[in-house]
Order: sequence, then C-alpha cells, then structure tokens
Amino acid sequence: MKLSTRAATTEPFHALAFGQQAAALEAQGHHVVRLSIGEPDVGAPPDVLAAMRDVMDGRPLPYTPALGLPQLRAAIAADYRARHGVEVDPARVAVTSGASAALLLVLAATVDPGDDVLLADPSYPCNRQLVSTFGGRALTLPTGPDQRYQLSVGALRDAWTDRTSAVMVASPSNPTGTSVPAAELAAICAEAARRDAWRIVDEIYLDLADPAPDGTAARTVLTADPDAVVVGSFSKFFGMTGWRLGWAVLPAELVAPVERLAQNYFIAASTPVQHAALACFTPASLALCEERRVEFTRRRRLVLDGLADLGLPVPVEPDGAFYVYVDVSGTGLDAWEFCARALAGHHVALTPGRDFSDATAATHVRLSYAASAAELTEGLRRIGALLAEVGAGSP
Ligand SMILES: Cc1ncc(COP(=O)(O)O)c(C=O)c1O
Repeated sequence: MKLSTRAATTEPFHALAFGQQAAALEAQGHHVVRLSIGEPDVGAPPDVLAAMRDVMDGRPLPYTPALGLPQLRAAIAADYRARHGVEVDPARVAVTSGASAALLLVLAATVDPGDDVLLADPSYPCNRQLVSTFGGRALTLPTGPDQRYQLSVGALRDAWTDRTSAVMVASPSNPTGTSVPAAELAAICAEAARRDAWRIVDEIYLDLADPAPDGTAARTVLTADPDAVVVGSFSKFFGMTGWRLGWAVLPAELVAPVERLAQNYFIAASTPVQHAALACFTPASLALCEERRVEFTRRRRLVLDGLADLGLPVPVEPDGAFYVYVDVSGTGLDAWEFCARALAGHHVALTPGRDFSDATAATHVRLSYAASAAELTEGLRRIGALLAEVGAGSP
C-alpha cells in the first residue's frame, strides 16, 4: 500500500527526539531540567477548573456549532474590546481546537497548489508543513537580529512573486520571543493588502508580550488592519495547552468558507472545554494570568543575565512569549551537538534551531523559560558546566 507524498514528506519535530531521550533519562531516575518545552509550567486558572467540573455533571454535551459556542465567540470578541480596544464582531470569531486547527483551517481556506506564502526564517515549523499540505510553497525569508528575526516590509517586497497569496507573521514569535514593531507590522499588512494577499498573523503570544512603556497592552494587528486574519489560543496565556482550544478572527469573506471546512474537518471544538473557557474571562482569571505574565518577565531577566554571565549571546532580547534564541556558534559546537551534549552529559533539555530555521539551524538554540526560577538557575548551572567542558564561554 502506498503512503501519500504528504505523509512521506512531512517533517517531524526534530526536538521530539530530544524529548524522548529526556523521558528515557527521567525513567532511569535522573533529574532532567526541561528548558525545551513550549508550554507554561502552570495550568488553567481555578475558575476554569471549577467551570469544567460544573459542566461535567452528567448533562449531555452535544456538538456546538462548527464555529463555536455563541457565548464563547461573544466572550472572545468582548475581550478584544475590553483589553485590546478593538471592536470585533463575534460573527467573525471561529473557535477551534487550538491555534493549530485555526492555522489549518485558514490555510485550507486560502492556499491553492502553486501559491507562495511568505514567512520568516526562523519561525514556527508547522506553518511550513501546512502550506505544503495544501500544495503551496512556503518561502522562508532569512532574517537577522537587525530585524528582530522578523519579516520587514522591505524583505517582503524583495521576495514577492507573482504567485504570492499570503504573508504569515507570528508576533511575538516562536522561537525568538520577539515582536514585529507595530508600525512595521502595519506596513507589512498594508503592502500585502495592496497586492491583494492575505495577512495571517499568529498572536497566540500577544498577551504574553511586554506592555508599551506607557503601560498599555501590546496592540493586536487588528487595530491597524481590521481585515487581517488573526490566530489566538487559550494554550499559552491561559496555561491550557492540553485543553486544545483556540480561535481565529476572520475577515467577513472567510467566515462561511472556514465554517464549511470546520464542519467537515472537525465538526466542532470540544464542547466541555468551550464551556469551561468562558471562565478565562472572569476578573480573577485575567488577574492571575496577568500576574503570571509578569512572573515570566522576571524569569526572562534571570535567564538573560545568567546567559550573559556565561558569555552566551542572545542577539535580540525577547519582548514576549517565554523563549530566548541563543547563539551558540562561539562554543565551537554545532547547535544540534550543543543540545545533544547538554542533554546526554548534563541533563538539560534545549531545542536546536533546526526545527525553526535553515539560516540559524547550525548556530542557534531555543531555551524556554517557562520553568520555575529554581529550575532555570539549575539549568544555567548545567549549561555552564557544558561550556567549561568544551572550553567556551566566560572563564
Ligand atoms: C507560534 C505558534 N503558533 C501556534 C502554536 C500552536 O498552539 P496551540 O496549542 O494553540 O495549537 C504554537 C505552539 O507552540 C506556536 O508556538
């Protein structure tokens, strides 16, 4: 029997190999400091847990409409108004099984074979795979520290082809934790709109971005481009990775196509989880998640200072999410080898750049600071031991 070309050519998460090795070490009784994981070390807020228990009282839990529970679509729209100052029609909100399903649906609705989609290198790896799944070509544009590892309008213009149908941006980004400055993002969207291309902006880390100096929350792209496609998630800010719930804010013309695709691909997102997620927007849940965001910024400082002491450069300080993208080229080790030796010899798990990038695959490593301060301190100590072993870093 034959596999589809898609199944045969879709790349795995290379980092999973390290995850499996970390699990094997733990099974042998070792303490592995896991700084490789893209998920918060805290769970859903207590109000959400209580709401989940309430809904699991034996009542029937039928499918919701394909685009989601109407109350949840309204709550997401209301939250955009309350915390981000933008009006979003609840009819434009599609609730999905994580941002992953939102990305799949949006790309299914917009990519045809032969289309080109522009993305930054480095960026979240699944997007490239999804674009290919629908027959498109993911054109990854190498970026550098001067652009905060993000697309710029100039790079976009240079790379534009007559088949470019969409631009994808994640701000803040995984693996770098860096955002596109608001004015640049507005210019990118304006340029793409002028050329009649979709703007797909992944904002799943937006609520984990630093506020502006005047204290106002990081701005959603919708303030500049109301017709951008925006992807959001309950996974990161609300600490609900395993609950699998996210959403997309769609331009009006995409609502019916995405609804048809969602009906066919998923029927709907999980009903109990959608009910429970309503409690994400209670004042107590929002206050707790905001406290957690502030705690992440403390951990970021700890990690940045620790890496600086070790002499390991972080070319661009992140301004959100919980990742730092570390340049290990000065150690004499290739990034993959750096991660392999850190795990095997020192029991600290990191993610090699290869998952996110061609341009920085050999030189960069992603460290996730979604771990306790004690774990981060121990992880830094172990990285220091690796550097001492290879004769690199600060004396
Ligand atoms: C940039 C980015 N987009 C999307 C996702 C998928 O998130 P979800 O858990 O909501 O499916 C991730 C997960 O790490 C991510 O980093």
